[in-house]
Formats: sequence, structure tokens, C-alpha cells
Amino acid sequence: MKNKIRVAVIFGGRSGEHEVSVVSGTNIIESLDRNKYDVIPIGITKLGKWLAGEKAPEAFKKGDYSDLTQVTLNSESGKNELLHFKNGHVERMKVDIFFPALHGPFGEDGTIQGLFEIANVPYTGCGVLASSVGMDKLVTKALWDQAGLPIVPYIGINKSSWKKSPKKIIKKILDELGMPVFIKPANMGSSVGISKVKKESELKRAIDLACEFDTRILIEKGLNVRELECAVLGNDSPKAARVGEVLVGGEFYDYNDKYVNGVSKTRVPAEITPTLEKEVQKMALKAYKLLDASGLARVDMFLEKNTGKIYINEINTLPGFTSISMYPKMWNASGVTYKKLIDKIIELGFERYREKQQKKISFDEAGDWYAK
Ligand SMILES: Nc1ncnc2c1ncn2[C@@H]1O[C@H](COP(=O)(O)OP(=O)(O)OP(=O)(O)O)[C@@H](O)[C@H]1O
Ligand SMILES: [Mg+2]
Repeated sequence: MKNKIRVAVIFGGRSGEHEVSVVSGTNIIESLDRNKYDVIPIGITKLGKWLAGEKAPEAFKKGDYSDLTQVTLNSESGKNELLHFKNGHVERMKVDIFFPALHGPFGEDGTIQGLFEIANVPYTGCGVLASSVGMDKLVTKALWDQAGLPIVPYIGINKSSWKKSPKKIIKKILDELGMPVFIKPANMGSSVGISKVKKESELKRAIDLACEFDTRILIEKGLNVRELECAVLGNDSPKAARVGEVLVGGEFYDYNDKYVNGVSKTRVPAEITPTLEKEVQKMALKAYKLLDASGLARVDMFLEKNTGKIYINEINTLPGFTSISMYPKMWNASGVTYKKLIDKIIELGFERYREKQQKKISFDEAGDWYAK
């Protein structure tokens, strides 16, 4: 019999999206086929401790970590193992592939991907570049804009220039964007620190709030929109799933709406014309490739109600992955079940790892490039 693949699923983490990530991780762990995979669940506490154990998902839901084993990733290149230090000796646990199910900072932003690269272990999803770029709304927009993808008009500012000349910035906002506007920290997720501003008198408070979360802020023209999402899967030849729609309940799709009262409804597939759906998919693929994304990502778009124009809003390189999340739902509507989706994501992680191992990485003394 073929050896089973040992998958370490990592969830929780030091971000505001800790709880959502526990649910994503639990769903992934539950649907991994045990005939094919040995699963090592690893929860990261809000303080950053890595705790492994079969019962980690439950323990993290309850907040009782007593039965779990503290582990650390061996950073030595190619060792592919977790270490547990116990009474002066070390226990080693082999891992074939790491499956991060972390959302937000320290999970979706390239930092944990950097750790995997240092350790030279296979992992699923986007690499360092796509993850870190995708987490930064200002850099992402600049790249997409340069490539001719339609983005909502915006102004980028930093905290120090705001503190120095608020009047000048307010004038610029009113002259170039008008009202309403959306104020967003460049680097947060889950609508944290985001405000919709309809009156000039509310601008200062909203920008000050965003400055509490980041030093770089985005001010975006507020449009009257429908919200479309497109799930993308693949490495060099990615595919897009059927497009979905979030029908926003409140003023905008904010944190409460996403995770607390859940008044938003979703529709998969979205009720749009086949031509529009194709256009959205094409744009999502272009946006994905431009950031060198791999494995998976969800690209979120706006469809402006009065003009029918599409704008690309953002990319999520580790989208919500609970059984009711949009990403798996959109693949399900395209004939790919949750289980199959996870198999594919793991396969893509190995594929990218193998490709990377073939890259020439050093220059030897004789002056020839050689592959590792
Ligand atoms: N320019 C805009 N015009 C109209 N509505 C907007 C605009 N920007 C944001 N919104 C609303 O605010 C919500 C949150 O904004 P956005 O998606 O940019 O950030 P985020 O949700 O924090 O990011 P993430 O999805 O990574 O958690 C959107 O889903 C949408 O409802
Ligand atoms: Mg969003």
C-alpha cells in the first residue's frame, strides 16, 4: 500500500480572524480522506504558541489546551519535521506538506510562507510574494492599475502626512473623489478599521480610526455596487469557478455582517449574464496571475449598478474555508466538491514545491550554475 501523505493543517493564529480560522481548519481536517492522509492538526494560540494534537480543533474552540503538545517547525532546510522538546530530549514528527488555514496577518501575508521557505518544506496556497502583496491594498491596486485592470479611483496617504497636513488631504479627497468615500487601512482584513464616510465632517474621525490600524491608508470613491466574488484554483494555468454574489444586508459588508449578525446572503452562481460572468472570470484570472498567485485565491469585484462596469476590489490569498464559505461554495457550483478541492490544493502545493527544487540556486566555484 502506498504511504499516506502527512498533512499538517495549521489554524488559529495571531490575527483578528483567529476564530474564523479555527472553523476553516476544523472543516479542512474533517474532510481530509483518512485513507489517503495522516493529519496533524496544529493550532496557533493568539500569543503564537504552536500546539499539535488530534484534539486541537476542539481544544481551540473551547480554549482548553491542556492535552496538546507544543511543537516548533525545524527550520533546517529540507528536514520536513516538527520538533517537540521534552525533558531535555527532542521528539521529531515528520510532515509531508503544511496546509495553512490562517486568515489575516501572520498567516495570509507571506510571513508564515517565509518560514516554510526557510525550512524548505512543501506547503499549500500562495507563496511569499503573492501573499504579502495581496495583503496590501495599496500595492495590489498599483500593480493592477498599471496592468490596465479597472480599479476604483483612490488616494493613498500615510499617517505622517495626514498628521502634518490634514486640510490639504481633505481638500484633495473632496476635489478628486467627492462623497461618499471608503476609508481603509492598507493592511487589514475583515473590514477592520474601515468606514464609509458620507459627509466631509466625518472624514477626520474615520481617517484617525484607520490610522490606529496602519500607517498607510486608502481613501476610495464610494460606489453603488453589487458584490461579486470569483474563486481561482491552480498554479501556472489557473481556472476560475462560477461567479458568486454577496447580497449585502447593511450599509456595507462589515465585520458584524461577515461574522456576527450575518445579515448578508449569498447567491452562487450569481444572477448575471453569461457574458458578464466570463468577463469577471477573465479579469479574476488576470489579477491572480499578475500577483504570481498559486494554489488558490478569491478575487472580489464590484459591479457598479448604474453603469454595469466591473471593478476589481481585492484578492484574498487564504479565503474563508468553512463549509459555508464562498470559496468552496463557488467550486461546488462548478462541480468540484469540498473534498476534491482539498485534494487538488494539496496536489498543487507539491507541484509548486517540485518545480522550485529544480531551480538553480547557487553558483559553484568553477563558475557553473548547478541545481540543488
Ligand atoms: N469603493 C467602495 N464602494 C462601495 N462599497 C465598498 C467600497 N469599498 C469597500 N466597500 C464595502 O466595504 C466592504 C469591505 O471592503 P474591502 O473588501 O475592501 O475590505 P475587507 O473586507 O477588509 O477585506 P477582506 O475581504 O480582505 O477582509 C466591501 O465588501 C463593500 O461592502
Ligand atoms: Mg472584502
